[in-house]
Amino acid sequence: MRVIVDQKPIPFAPGDSVLVAMLRAGEHPTGGGCLCLGGDCPNCLATVDGVSYVRTCQVAAKPGLVVERHPADDYPPLPDDSKHRAEVHAHNHHCDVVVIGQGESGRAAAAEAEAAGRQVLTLDVANGQEAIGIYSGPLVVARTDAGMLHIHAEEVVVATGAAEIQPVVPGSELAGLLTSRAAEQLAAAGLDLGRVVAVGTPPAGVDCEVASGELLRFEGEGGRVTAVITQALDGSEKRYPCETAVVGLGLYPRDALTRMGHQLPVRAVGDATREADLPTCPNEGIICPCSGVSVADLERVWGQGFHEMELVKRATLAGTGTCQGGVCTPYLRSFLLAKGKTLQPAFTARPVNRQLTLGEIGAGAHHHPTARTALDGEHRRLGAKMERSGGWWRPWNYGDVWAEYWAVREAVSIMDVSTLGKMIVSGPDALELLERLYPTKVSTIKNGRSRYVLLLDERGYVFDDGMICKDSDTQYTLTFTSGGSSHAEMWVRDWAESWGLDVRILLQTQRLGAINVTGPLANELLARAGLDNPPAYLGHMEATVAGVPCRIYRLSFTGELSYELHHPAEQSVTLWRGLLERGQGLGIRPHGLETLLKLRLEKGHIIVGQDTDMDSTPRRLHHEWAIKLDKPAFIGRQAVLRTNKIALDKQLVGMEMVGQPAGYAPLEGGVIWHQGNYAGIVTSATYSPVLGKTVLLGWLYLQNGELPTEVEIEGRTARRVELPFYDKEASRARA
Ligand code: FES
Repeated sequence: MRVIVDQKPIPFAPGDSVLVAMLRAGEHPTGGGCLCLGGDCPNCLATVDGVSYVRTCQVAAKPGLVVERHPADDYPPLPDDSKHRAEVHAHNHHCDVVVIGQGESGRAAAAEAEAAGRQVLTLDVANGQEAIGIYSGPLVVARTDAGMLHIHAEEVVVATGAAEIQPVVPGSELAGLLTSRAAEQLAAAGLDLGRVVAVGTPPAGVDCEVASGELLRFEGEGGRVTAVITQALDGSEKRYPCETAVVGLGLYPRDALTRMGHQLPVRAVGDATREADLPTCPNEGIICPCSGVSVADLERVWGQGFHEMELVKRATLAGTGTCQGGVCTPYLRSFLLAKGKTLQPAFTARPVNRQLTLGEIGAGAHHHPTARTALDGEHRRLGAKMERSGGWWRPWNYGDVWAEYWAVREAVSIMDVSTLGKMIVSGPDALELLERLYPTKVSTIKNGRSRYVLLLDERGYVFDDGMICKDSDTQYTLTFTSGGSSHAEMWVRDWAESWGLDVRILLQTQRLGAINVTGPLANELLARAGLDNPPAYLGHMEATVAGVPCRIYRLSFTGELSYELHHPAEQSVTLWRGLLERGQGLGIRPHGLETLLKLRLEKGHIIVGQDTDMDSTPRRLHHEWAIKLDKPAFIGRQAVLRTNKIALDKQLVGMEMVGQPAGYAPLEGGVIWHQGNYAGIVTSATYSPVLGKTVLLGWLYLQNGELPTEVEIEGRTARRVELPFYDKEASRARA
């Protein structure tokens, strides 16, 4: 029976791990470093059957298994994606108690729980079940031979035992170094370790010379250890020639899973709870073999003022590699104790603590994620009916759509519009970029002012709309539709790169929350929130509202006096609650998407994606006013010039129903007929209480070169009218 190591077959004995088989053949998987055989170090990693960063000491040798060593000074190559990999399945298991680790303490914990009548599941690495993380729930995720196991338990017992402390001295990267337990296992497996010298606790059952004094360094030749050097109390050095050096430097609890379970029903038993042995503060050597962090690196960051465990970790990257602090944590603690005279706890542990393949990470995920705004919890608390829209969960209504509607038209209302795409474009070429991208004259937008804009593709079709807000001569804030934000980001970045312009592009969609304050009493609400002088129509400014720093944009999609408050998303809840509290007595109530769709339709505002098609030119949309063809160049200009010469075939128009019952609105997407012929489709429709009639937008085909004035929808008459339906002078939005 043989495994294949770097194209060379090597034999193995029954019960061997891949590592033991390699050592038996005189091979080292990484070339050097102290081996633990316990899954705690990065010194046995290799690519096994195409999967990199596999701990060879944890994999049973099987005939034909293909092992490739990682390159010495580089990352292992990415997997060949032409090779099909079997799908990894995820299985869910529900139980009362899951016990991780089946050593003595784990078996005792499981027996105790079973005796108490509880349903118990046990996991053990020796059985190919490796717990890789604990999440809230609690949910324990384990990698098993049969795929990923998601365990939903009432209680988690961590019985993972303790790891052995690795040596950190010059020479600790040599081959031929073993921890005590590793030496015991290898001797039991029948490996000849040659002349063995032990430092610290000697391995049981292994014939060895025990070195006295403190470990000073290892010496070697050709990458392999040849001697252990220790130092006596009087400072004298002693040299112990050897072929294998074994270290017994103490134990450190394997408590990463316990630390992940902070504030969850997770408890540790046995050695996983033991007091950590602290090694002597190292003077020299590599303390984190995964990230190559040396004692000199620790000294440097200490000198720069990084004195906290979490900061030292981030400043050096110690503990961020494959073993997630398994080797370096004891030394970081002893270093910080020696320097700062305080023993600091280990850094925070987070899932996952083992390397996973993408297949393992994705196992069990079969849905498209839907984003949530920072106010998601507030909406649900207020009883909102939530809907998916534009890739986000958004409140559709809060139970009474007409009350929400009237709050906007007659009082004041707020809406979570955090989903809007938001982007900052800055740099010397920011204006040049926007002039080329947008069909408006961007140079005529003044500092502190905003403008509604369309985005056209090269074929002159509208694919998004939003605002350009000028912050300074070299900085602009752009907004996009909620559903179009990702595409717009790609669009702006692609063109900036293609044209080689000197700009910086920063997407702010997730970082910034946005709340729209709208209604005739909006000014009064803002005054109560501390803002007495809000910006003029289409202006913007920075101010604190209800204690939250905001960028305030005055614009209007609802047709009423409106302000968009952009703010740090982590303060969305404070602002939301602050506005609702201060609006008591003003008739405030939040409104959802259902209300907004009615309000904007009354104003004839289009929604790109709902009222537009893939072939919507500005002329078909009746938005020629947004296109400045006297600009020398912008994306889509040539196409617009060309299509404008072709006879118009259809147009998005406003219509109202004639003599319909109150509350009636035709189905969106419904067919429009003209004298028995197909004439178009309805894109948006609503009954408008403020107008006392049903209004709609729809695509209408020209009949004999003219747009029909009267059509039929659902057997009723509809009449074409000019837009907007409501407040034609825009006196309310500009109030
Ligand atoms: S030897 Fe495999 S993890 Fe240490």
